[in-house]
Amino acid sequence: MTIMDAIAERHSVRAFTPRPLDFATWDALDSYIREINDESRLSFTLITDDPTAFGQSLLAKYGHFENVQNFIVCAGPKGPDLEERVGYFGEAIVLKAQMLGLNTCWVGLTFSKSNVRRLLKPGERLVCVIAMGYGVSAGSSHPVKSEGELSTVKGEVPEWFEQGMWAATLAPTALNQQRWHITLENGVCRLTTAPGPYTALDRGIVRRHFEIGAANAGEAQVAWL
Ligand SMILES: Cc1cc2nc3c(=O)[nH]c(=O)nc-3n(C[C@H](O)[C@H](O)[C@H](O)COP(=O)(O)O)c2cc1C
Repeated sequence: MTIMDAIAERHSVRAFTPRPLDFATWDALDSYIREINDESRLSFTLITDDPTAFGQSLLAKYGHFENVQNFIVCAGPKGPDLEERVGYFGEAIVLKAQMLGLNTCWVGLTFSKSNVRRLLKPGERLVCVIAMGYGVSAGSSHPVKSEGELSTVKGEVPEWFEQGMWAATLAPTALNQQRWHITLENGVCRLTTAPGPYTALDRGIVRRHFEIGAANAGEAQVAWL
């Protein structure tokens, strides 16, 4: 599966089978997470066979998650851009998991924060978790806003922007709010987000998808304002 396939096939999955992660899958994902931690200086930690993040607290029950035994703790040092960076690097992990045959769901609210905080190292700030495992289903698609609604281009639309937007419209956002907009002017992109819950995380996730789509059309380095 290519990363573009992973973007097309990924949907949030909240119910998982009891099957533990295969050793080779766990190993590949854990190594990838280490690479991402090295690059980002953030702290993503894969926790397996631990049901305590979901299922006990009221919020976790409200979230309708079922049988979450594996999840990634998303944390890092305090800083003004922590959430956006967690979104950007965490989405790379989400897409890697999809390519390895796993299903995922970003979870900002509906999990037990107190149980997960116990897993943090000193100095780390908890941002959210990513639930993961073998889904009972592959999830389903939901309505997405059109590329026209989500972007403005001054002049011709280059192919890399087209492909970047295709990937960005499929990026998960909290509550499926898609409160973002990308403007292209003189070869430079500007990503803006309207205020709302978790939009900083959304911003990083959208930027990751956009860059993957653009790179697929040969634009290795997107210029962001
Ligand atoms: C930053 C972020 C936080 C989220 N938090 C929750 C959550 O607390 N509970 C939940 O059930 N889903 C949560 N989601 C999943 C979104 O509801 C889901 O991604 C969105 O509806 C789009 O669906 P899709 O992922 O299938 O494309 C979150 C997603 C993102 C990106």
